[in-house]
Amino acid sequence: MTIVKQDFGCVDGEKPVHLYTLKNSNGCEARITNYGGIVVSLTVPDRTGKPGDVVLGFNTLEEYLKGHPYFGAIIGRYGNRIAQGKFTLDGVAYTLAANNNENHLHGGLKGFDKVVWQAEIVEGQDGDALALSYLSKDGEEGYPGNLSVKVVYTLSDDNQLRIDYAATTDKPAVVNLTNHAYFNLAGEGSGDILGHEIMLNANRFIPVNAGLIPTGELRPVKGTSLDFTKPVAIGARIDSGDEQLRLGRGYDHCFVLNREDSSVTLAARVYEPTTGRVMEVYTDQPGVQLYTGNFLDGSKVGKRGIAYGYRNGFCLETQHFPDSPNKAHFPTTVLRPGQTYSSHTSYRFSVR
Ligand code: BGC
Repeated sequence: MTIVKQDFGCVDGEKPVHLYTLKNSNGCEARITNYGGIVVSLTVPDRTGKPGDVVLGFNTLEEYLKGHPYFGAIIGRYGNRIAQGKFTLDGVAYTLAANNNENHLHGGLKGFDKVVWQAEIVEGQDGDALALSYLSKDGEEGYPGNLSVKVVYTLSDDNQLRIDYAATTDKPAVVNLTNHAYFNLAGEGSGDILGHEIMLNANRFIPVNAGLIPTGELRPVKGTSLDFTKPVAIGARIDSGDEQLRLGRGYDHCFVLNREDSSVTLAARVYEPTTGRVMEVYTDQPGVQLYTGNFLDGSKVGKRGIAYGYRNGFCLETQHFPDSPNKAHFPTTVLRPGQTYSSHTSYRFSVR
């Protein structure tokens, strides 16, 4: 893999930001900026070998700075929602921004998606990799602990985009990192994603209330419109009237991955019939949030000048369960001094 660095503009008129182009030997290319760690583009071949960009995003930094629904970004400190933006850790109560109605979403007002990361090209096991580092200060966005975070992007020759996350803290903290890429395997800007067939390796999902906060239950998918244990088109049941789908305006749910231990396992497989593109998601995380772009409304115009409308992209955010800091029976997201948070996700591309 080779990496080429180019200027991408400035944040706050002073902090230079770069765009890194990662290329493998099989015609895959990823462009990633150290602003928000955003995957700006991801080009992979279709079944005829024709390359296409399968993630939503913009051509310029200015468009990202104007605000967007987390296109391609690293999400932290806590991906997904924390009820009322409040939690208690070791008897100390913390209050975070309520930036999603009364709840906290994706790290707050200025989460990891909006900060400038320090970038370094490092040697990984598959050639060069892009390492992004960020020190989130104690109290930033209301969270406790100086949190030192490192995210490494690797594009390997077998057409995998791998993301390795690590973090350490000097005080008890909570952490839940993910990436918020919106995919459209037919190519960004080619309409809705309802025809994509998806399989999720999950026999249970996490039902939510009207604020999209988990009720606490882990509910079997069997017999519901959330059963993706066998491949089904995203659009087949999305408007079935299922109460959970009405609350999410579509799929916006965390699925509990079937696993026996914390090793890397297949979380999802998605197939786009017109181009033959297949994307598999592997992770060591307990859950994956399937979000079907239900809040995309055509107000953001993408890289080819085409507006991103309702359900024009889907996300598969590998993560811990939402609101874990307030749900003692969910796997813990607490990180203590001396421990290292680590998580791995890879997006593997092929054709059928
Ligand atoms: C959430 C959605 C939210 C979206 C914001 C997703 O991860 O699950 O509820 O609207 O991010 O872009």
